Amino acid sequence: MSKLISAVDLVLDTAYQKIDDSQWRQLIDMALSKEVFKRRDAIFSGSAINQSEGRAALHPALRNLSNQAMTVNGEDVMPLVKGVWQRIEGFCNQLIGITDVICLGIGGSDWGPRLVCDALYQVNPKDSKSIRLHFVANVDSAELATALAKAQPRSTRVLITSKTFTTLETIRNAQTVINWLKLHQVSPSQLKKCLIGITANPKAAEEFGIAPENIYPFWDWVGGRFSVWSAVGFPIAIKFGFDTFKEFLAGAHAMDQHFLNADAQENMPLILALTLIHNQQKHGITAKAIVPYAHALRFLPEWLQQLEMESHGKTVTLDGQTCDPTSPVVFGSAGSNSQHSYFQMLHQGNQIIPVDFIAIKQPMSDLPEAKEHHQSLVANCLAQAQALANGSKEEFAYDSCPGGRPSNLIWLPKLDAYHLGALLALYEHRAICLGAIWNLNSFDQPGVELGKKLAKPIQAALKGENPSLEGIDEITAARIRWLNS
Ligand code: F6P
Repeated sequence: MSKLISAVDLVLDTAYQKIDDSQWRQLIDMALSKEVFKRRDAIFSGSAINQSEGRAALHPALRNLSNQAMTVNGEDVMPLVKGVWQRIEGFCNQLIGITDVICLGIGGSDWGPRLVCDALYQVNPKDSKSIRLHFVANVDSAELATALAKAQPRSTRVLITSKTFTTLETIRNAQTVINWLKLHQVSPSQLKKCLIGITANPKAAEEFGIAPENIYPFWDWVGGRFSVWSAVGFPIAIKFGFDTFKEFLAGAHAMDQHFLNADAQENMPLILALTLIHNQQKHGITAKAIVPYAHALRFLPEWLQQLEMESHGKTVTLDGQTCDPTSPVVFGSAGSNSQHSYFQMLHQGNQIIPVDFIAIKQPMSDLPEAKEHHQSLVANCLAQAQALANGSKEEFAYDSCPGGRPSNLIWLPKLDAYHLGALLALYEHRAICLGAIWNLNSFDQPGVELGKKLAKPIQAALKGENPSLEGIDEITAARIRWLNS
């Protein structure tokens, strides 16, 4: 069993997992017995795999650059997808006079475009248009205030991205931006032109006040955390051009073809998923680190946190049984910074935390010294993986590192839209494999509803509109009384 798997110019190196051929055979046999590829094929064929919501999860259709149909409920969705591509391209050809785009959205309506736009800008600022993007997700007004301080109201467009068009943070931010535009004498007709809705709920967007011609739809068969390939990725096209957005789609489409066609032992998403299962079986791990040795991928861990933990931070399986373990806690940050933060714990802590290192073969700037910087960056990445695996035996236990800490290393040849698309699709498909192995619904998120529901009476109480403090427990009621005192 090769320790090096290649796909779409990416290379997955599992050498420091120390998994022998017999263990690989057992892992692959287990995966096949869990019908991983049957779930994959159900997803690509548009089956209602999201059982709790009775929906398909056909996000691969959003990047389907072949001329093959992809269907949901027997209907080819590609005309819808291509229609949105044409509208996005048309908008990108009419950016003259626009200085700022405020991108409102949260969760899957934010992390994907924020990550991709930041990554492409960090490695190649010269490739981008001068238009300023301002991503705003938090309902904390500080994020929005910072954006509004930089934007020019009379040459600004506002992307309001929300699959449901009901998310509290996004709607609140949108209302404040509209007030800001009006405050700066933007006329009603100009305001109508400024506001753009990106949603699977066009009715709610229209009721909010978005002109129908400014609504860019996506569909209920697109999960929020799988939606960057849809009109949710609009900011990518605005900032870097529609062709770059298509390159991003192309990389993911290529990874789709690999996932669909590669045999199990050469299937990169499956092999990546099985290293986690092995770590759980062998070490009982409960946390996993994602460490891209690339400043430009600094948001990757946060995008992956939602993909992994919103998909599989669950214990009840599709047939109502309990599954344990399921998703580990996923955290991480860019290397080499991370070495000066939590790597002490990774080396000498009392728990084994496997790491996915991600490295780029090419330097990531055009500074004259870029090559030296890059050699230092890569040397540190390789050294950390070696140190985690082998440890060190010093005179005193206090100074020794136990080693035996597994890691993967994923190489990208360069950091561009194509290979970034392939990387994100790799992790999406890894999640699909894990969902099948754990027999979980990877596409709903029932656990996030309770907090949202409890926030409503609390916000009313903070406004003095819930004097009886109904729906609020005694501790929180005491906190509200303290806050309002
Ligand atoms: O976190 C819950 C969630 O529903 C995510 O799944 C989603 O990406 C996010 O909120 C935003 O939802 P929407 O795109 O509907 O505003």
